[in-house]
Amino acid sequence: MTPEELARADLLLDVDGPVATITLNRPEARNAQRPRLWAGIARVLDELDESVRVVVVRGAGGTFSAGLDLGMLDPARAGDDGNLIGTLALDDQAIIDQIDVYQQPFVRLTDPRFISIAVVEGHAIGAGFQLALACDLRIVAEDARFCMKEPALGLVPDLVGTKPLVAAVGYARALEICASARVVSGTEAGEIGLAQAVVPASELDTAVGTMVASLTAHAHGAVSATKRLLQEAPGRTLDEQRLAERTAQVARFRALAGG
Ligand code: ACO
Repeated sequence: MTPEELARADLLLDVDGPVATITLNRPEARNAQRPRLWAGIARVLDELDESVRVVVVRGAGGTFSAGLDLGMLDPARAGDDGNLIGTLALDDQAIIDQIDVYQQPFVRLTDPRFISIAVVEGHAIGAGFQLALACDLRIVAEDARFCMKEPALGLVPDLVGTKPLVAAVGYARALEICASARVVSGTEAGEIGLAQAVVPASELDTAVGTMVASLTAHAHGAVSATKRLLQEAPGRTLDEQRLAERTAQVARFRALAGG
């Protein structure tokens, strides 16, 4: 994407060797998310070079993301592109299909060819929380504030956040966090398995550097194949999983032998 296209999508992109950093860049609106941003992230991920091994997602201006742009829920702006009230004129299937398009960047962040890391400082509300959940790993500031606000607005989380939340913290804690729409601090996120590193906000960049170095230290093909095995493990029986391990290992043996 050109810098102009990225700007229209409220994004910045920096690719430094094996690390691509996608920055939500709408700090004046606390990085509130619009369809143009989702389409932009999907396109950035589609266009990444094969050599990219880590995708870092962060927000400009000290906030990860205040979630869905509230203008999309404003009946007075029903005619605006992406306004959700405006879509109510469509039939149910058309709305379901539209949300499927919105979900695409959240799905693509799980691609086995790279490891995605959300770097969360400030607020991660609603769609912001879900964007952080879409990433494989989360590095968070101690004073970060996660909130699954959708139920408080009469909605459900529909941007692919429910499955990774349950996987990270278990069903009961996920239900408690969503139903109450309470704030989860960065410190608590570390304690309940939502975050893999928790540091003071001033140390986030150092923590990201350390994590990226450790994630890129070993063979790309081995790491990608291992990520795929781990992702698919919950949906398989033990016999299915060990078959998948054997099959993946044959490919690794051949790769190591140069064949
Ligand atoms: N959509 C659109 N604009 C937003 C959003 C949003 N989600 N969040 C903040 N903004 C705008 C504000 O309207 C304000 O604009 P203005 O300067 O033109 O008045 C600007 O960003 C700064 O917002 P403040 O509220 O002044 O910033 P503050 O740092 O005090 O608070 C906070 C930040 C806590 C994130 C607050 O803005 C907030 O609660 N936002 C709404 C969060 C929300 O309900 N998101 C939807 C969740 S549901 C979902 O994502 C599906």
